[in-house]
Amino acid sequence: MITLKKKFSDLDSFVINKKVILRIDLNLPTFDNEITDYTRLEKIIPTIEYLLNNNAKIILISHFGRPDGKIIKELSLKDLAIKIGSSVNKEVGFIEDNILKIKKDKIEKALENYQIILLENLRFYLDEERNDENFSKKLASFADIYVNECFSGSHRNHSSIVGIPKFLPSFPGMLLEEEISNLKNLVINERSSSSIAVFGGSKISTKIKIVDFYLNKFDKVLIGGAMANTFLVAKGKEIGSSIIEKSMVKTAKEYLENFSEKIILPTDCVLSTKTKEISVKAIDMIDKDEKILDIGPQSRMLFYNKILECENLLWNGPLGFFEEKPFNEGTNFVLKAIKNNKNKNFFSVAGGGDTISVLKQANALDYFSFISTGGGAFLEFIQGKGLPGLNSLNG
Ligand code: 3PG
Repeated sequence: MITLKKKFSDLDSFVINKKVILRIDLNLPTFDNEITDYTRLEKIIPTIEYLLNNNAKIILISHFGRPDGKIIKELSLKDLAIKIGSSVNKEVGFIEDNILKIKKDKIEKALENYQIILLENLRFYLDEERNDENFSKKLASFADIYVNECFSGSHRNHSSIVGIPKFLPSFPGMLLEEEISNLKNLVINERSSSSIAVFGGSKISTKIKIVDFYLNKFDKVLIGGAMANTFLVAKGKEIGSSIIEKSMVKTAKEYLENFSEKIILPTDCVLSTKTKEISVKAIDMIDKDEKILDIGPQSRMLFYNKILECENLLWNGPLGFFEEKPFNEGTNFVLKAIKNNKNKNFFSVAGGGDTISVLKQANALDYFSFISTGGGAFLEFIQGKGLPGLNSLNG
């Protein structure tokens, strides 16, 4: 498990009046090209304020979406410069010039005028994802210090994550530190006799390693969402026309054989037919034209009671087709167990994928000890692995 050699507070002594290139994550969730959640942005505001209070000049850099080296208007960071500006009560200068061609003078001048500037989406340049040395050098040349405040991008071997630290004194950001100390607490927690991991969502294949890790490490693994369907098929159950990952049935079967005591699956479910009729049935009673869309009342109680007793909890993903009511009810019900858990040492962490949006919709953000801003980075880190972006801060 990685330990960061430097701390954010190490910046104290020499950040004053310096130019800081701050890697943040403005890769915010969108629907129909509209941003639906600003949590990632809100969480880095204290770091920006700290730097402003220390008279530092700030060059913000981020990616947004996956434009693959093309300039895509909808993925411009321009509007986010205004949003950040209104959060810190300071105008943020937006520099849309080609990063490879910007002269250092232009950056210096912009920093005299604004104190904070934001460069255009780094992924408009293929060099970013290729971790091109010249691109890293160019970005580094604008500043005196690099700060990684992008835990959620630290699993990427990209220029702005692992390249720039080769050329500048580099430090972790405040949020990045907070992520690491909380997630480490989850992974190295020795109270594993009452530790529970909850996995939902649809794809086992993207989470297979992490499910494996927690089956070995934790006391119980509760599985809901469409992920559970693959396990149910592996148990020989009829699941009608429900979503399933056929290629993962064999693995699910192996897990069921090796960890039969640990895996807890739904025993009943909420179903819908082609004609959209909704019913509740035991898992053994599903017809061919029915589709599982949520866990049923009995499973909700089963999951609820397990969580109520535990001391250490990891939560990732929804337990049903959360986007559509009433199939969000299973998730909402089970989440209440986290709120009602009275164990003195109860420690709960959520993260990965769209977990923040799910918890926000369920009004459950306050239930957890910590909610990670990481998607893929969260899932990699909580398997006890280092991340390239963290290793490069130690280099
Ligand atoms: C995320 O949203 O998890 C990070 O911003 C990383 O984005 P990516 O998966 O497109 O690299």
